[in-house]
Amino acid sequence: MSSLTSTIPSKRIGIILGSSRKGGNAMGIASWVSAFLKKNIPSDVEVVLVDPITAPHPLGPLLHPQMPSLVKELSDYPTQAIRDWSTFVSTCSAIVVVSPQFNWGYPGELKNALDHLYYEWHGKPAMLVTYGSRGGAKCAEQLRQVMGKGLKMKLVGRDVLVALSHDYIAGQERVKGEDEFLKAFEEPLKEASDELYELMGGEANAPA
Ligand SMILES: Cc1cc2nc3c(=O)[nH]c(=O)nc-3n(C[C@H](O)[C@H](O)[C@H](O)COP(=O)(O)O)c2cc1C
Repeated sequence: MSSLTSTIPSKRIGIILGSSRKGGNAMGIASWVSAFLKKNIPSDVEVVLVDPITAPHPLGPLLHPQMPSLVKELSDYPTQAIRDWSTFVSTCSAIVVVSPQFNWGYPGELKNALDHLYYEWHGKPAMLVTYGSRGGAKCAEQLRQVMGKGLKMKLVGRDVLVALSHDYIAGQERVKGEDEFLKAFEEPLKEASDELYELMGGEANAPA
């Protein structure tokens, strides 16, 4: 049996997608974040993108009667998908959530992915990148409460709020990752990711 927090390696950042909508903006924004992190933090830090809906197995809703906060051993989780999810999160030294705003909140799938685990999140450094027509501030507010207060994660002080124009939301345009408008959000992304790296025990602005 392995304990829930015993396998933490020194350097891996997990980027968790909030939306799995086909043909949406999630992958483009996550690619932008991922490329930025790879360029701005030392090369020994691995950056891994994960869509909790599909990989490595779909997590689905919470069906087991036992509360995740009562689970102390990996083997106590009811499914292999949740055990794999626990192992993945435990092996991340920090988490970045990239999520759209849905009706002033965040997607239910992301809530499920968070709720399936408990102790794995405690004390883990985290950063939020949200998007929507005004940057997804309401979504960030809710995630801050759930991740910071409920799950006791160590959130960086600044959220990255990416405002999308109408064309990206209701039109044909989709974020690809190298879009010109994203440059306006590099400054907050730099500040937030520097702090994230500091919380991981690294030195901000360390040379790549
Ligand atoms: C169900 C739903 C609800 C939405 N609610 C909001 C909202 O409250 N505020 C906002 O700015 N955008 C809202 N949007 C627009 C999304 O933020 C935008 O479409 C975004 O690209 C969705 O992320 P995705 O493309 O990665 O799925 C909503 C979109 C959907 C599908």
